[in-house]
Amino acid sequence: MQDKLQGRVAIVTGGARGIGFGIAERLARDGAHVVIADVIDDTAQAAQRLAEQGRSAQAWRLDVSQEREIGEFVRGVERQHGRIDILVNNAGISPKNNGTKFLVEETSTENWSRVIAVNLTGPFLLCRECIPVMRRQGHGRIVNITSQSARTRPEATSGHYAASKTGLMGLSRALAGEVGNGGITVNCVAPGVIETPMLSTFSDERRAHLASRIPMGAMGAPADIAAAVAFLASDDARYITGTTIDVNGGMFMT
Ligand SMILES: NC(=O)c1ccc[n+]([C@@H]2O[C@H](COP(=O)([O-])OP(=O)(O)OC[C@H]3O[C@@H](n4cnc5c(N)ncnc54)[C@H](O)[C@@H]3O)[C@@H](O)[C@H]2O)c1
Repeated sequence: MQDKLQGRVAIVTGGARGIGFGIAERLARDGAHVVIADVIDDTAQAAQRLAEQGRSAQAWRLDVSQEREIGEFVRGVERQHGRIDILVNNAGISPKNNGTKFLVEETSTENWSRVIAVNLTGPFLLCRECIPVMRRQGHGRIVNITSQSARTRPEATSGHYAASKTGLMGLSRALAGEVGNGGITVNCVAPGVIETPMLSTFSDERRAHLASRIPMGAMGAPADIAAAVAFLASDDARYITGTTIDVNGGMFMT
């Protein structure tokens, strides 16, 4: 629906490509003004693509692992728009070791710390900075993009990645318990295998193996994740908090 998010201001981290761009595109289509926050050079072009579709969007260069940048970013968005309704913590990294996962015994402390900084500390900092703005409005929607790796034994991803995404689920539940009385919900969407640049290092053999394990017979698309995020960001989901929606074609079921 075109106007479900009319008047809402949304932040999508890692929104320049892949799942994040799919989410930005969907929230903008539903009527939100979308701030695409990303580190890559293509960020401005991503916002431009949405503007060409007649949507309301802007680009912001942000490295979610940099605490100082996050404070300036959130204050800047609030100054420009007067509100922040939706925060989608989507930016994430999944370093690979020649196309396969890093075993724990092969993982350097630096590699571990980098993944935790981007995938877990970044979302924590963004939540911490956005919550006071959402409390003042009496309204907020936080959606954290976790992973199937946080739901069951990770097959294709490394221990640091699984730890970061499982931590993000724990953070989401804790925060949901703290902010529900302020009209703020906090939920997760856990993608299965979604066709994006993050999968570009996977061999054809691994991709075929993964697809063969999906009951629906194929990898998902960014739009499949975006649909779940748009629902959680809408008024329809006003009484849903502290939960995770699995979007994985049936690859993992609880
Ligand atoms: N693709 C999948 O199958 C899959 C499965 C489960 C979970 N996920 C999760 O979905 C999210 C999006 O994944 P994707 O497949 O679209 O990945 P992607 O690599 O295609 O896109 C990730 C985006 O995040 C941005 N980013 C990375 N580090 C950043 C930083 N420090 N600050 C700001 N932006 C940063 C990148 O520039 C990129 O635009 C990630 O959190 C990922 O862990 C993806």
